[in-house]
Amino acid sequence: MNAYDVLKDHHTVLKGLGGKISRMPVNSQERQDLFDDMLIELDIHFRIEDDLYYPALKQAGRLIAIAHAEHRQVVDQLSVLLKTPRSAPGYEQEWNSFKTVLEAHADEEERDLIPAPPEVELTDADLEELGDKMAAMMERYRGSALHRLRTKGRAALVRAL
Ligand SMILES: [Fe+2]
Ligand SMILES: [Fe+2]
Repeated sequence: MNAYDVLKDHHTVLKGLGGKISRMPVNSQERQDLFDDMLIELDIHFRIEDDLYYPALKQAGRLIAIAHAEHRQVVDQLSVLLKTPRSAPGYEQEWNSFKTVLEAHADEEERDLIPAPPEVELTDADLEELGDKMAAMMERYRGSALHRLRTKGRAALVRAL
């Protein structure tokens, strides 16, 4: 599968989850479950980008540095959200800030890095091979109980700090 399609499809998944979460009552179990799913999918997304996609585009050094910085912003905003109790009056605002930062990053990526800028030399075959690797990595993490546990554990740790 083409690497560009893997990423764009997954952006759609993440945005879809974000929209669904926003429509659920803050304290509902459904929202909690969807949010847990989102943490898993987001972690997987950043892994396939940080470990596979961005290194393949290393010739676009400046844009990749920006993308890494944006990942840190998303993680920072997520930490703020995790530390905000669901019962707090500002919770929904923190959720919206997180969703906005995440969506802005995905949109910028689709503008600047998908497709790769001209200085990056990737053939169609390279893009297929890369996409297959990314899809395989996603499947591996999705099927891993350990990954699910680690992601939940990290979120719990951030909440507790
Ligand atoms: Fe990204
Ligand atoms: Fe992305």
